[in-house]
Amino acid sequence: MQPRHFISLLDLSSTELRALIHRAIELKNHRDPDFQPMKGRVLAMIFEKSSTRTRISFEAGMAQFGGSAIFLSPRDTQLGRGEPMEDSAKVISSMVDCIMLRTHKHETVITFAQHSRVPVINGLTDLLHPCQLLADMQTYFELRGDIAGKTVTWIGDGNNMCHSYINAARQFDFKLNIACPAEYRPVQSIVDAAGNKVSFFDTPEQAARQADLVVTDVWASMGQEDEQKKRELAFRDFQVNAQTMRAANKDALFMHCLPAHRGEEVTEEVIDGPQSAIFPEAENRLHAQKALLEFLICR
Ligand code: CP
Ligand code: NVA
Repeated sequence: MQPRHFISLLDLSSTELRALIHRAIELKNHRDPDFQPMKGRVLAMIFEKSSTRTRISFEAGMAQFGGSAIFLSPRDTQLGRGEPMEDSAKVISSMVDCIMLRTHKHETVITFAQHSRVPVINGLTDLLHPCQLLADMQTYFELRGDIAGKTVTWIGDGNNMCHSYINAARQFDFKLNIACPAEYRPVQSIVDAAGNKVSFFDTPEQAARQADLVVTDVWASMGQEDEQKKRELAFRDFQVNAQTMRAANKDALFMHCLPAHRGEEVTEEVIDGPQSAIFPEAENRLHAQKALLEFLICR
């Protein structure tokens, strides 16, 4: 049987994604230490970039399910010495039950999956961050109910998180309003594929009008540290602040995948204020990914 992979939100059907969110909520609310579906199962985790939430949530999730996780970095493995991805995928997937990768290039995860005989999970690439969206969707469902028909506002960089929000708009059936500088728009083919689900606005206030959820992310992602100063200038009118939140609906939530730069993409007042859902959102990485692991491994 061909393994199912989770490289993009589009790899699962809308029905499967919804079921997965509901399963994540169930796993969170009815934690049973005797439920150990991953006993003897192993997850390999390859990180080319830093991580706090992704690493801990996958490792803790496997442990809670009775399995285990191995942390691998290019620095300590032959991956860093140029062993081909194709060979690494064949070797690693012959020994473990699932592989999670966080890589610079999206193509690396694609190549890896093509040569893996076990499920491959995208733990963030320069193009997409689908695991974060599972947690964000779970958080919205828990705090406000179904997101179908709602309006979500993305402010800032057209980056991996923005691309995953565009895919989520398709899969979960919400409207996505984007405000970003012209030179930092999301990839056009991803926007085009979402059709009328996505609209662009000139200012954060316009994009946030009647929003049910406002989301942003850092102005310089991992690997773009050299561009920090240039980006601070380009993005200075694209901050989520009290004015932005006033334009949104009264019960709108604020989310951020974290880590955040307070005072840059979001003010302290908003990220630490009453509408912010950032900590349940971060915790839900654990529950949503446990549901994902169960879906992919225990089929
Ligand atoms: N949000 C997120 O993916 O966090 P980490 O980089 O800490 O894993
Ligand atoms: N866009 C950010 C997300 C971090 C979780 C990055 O790629 O660094």
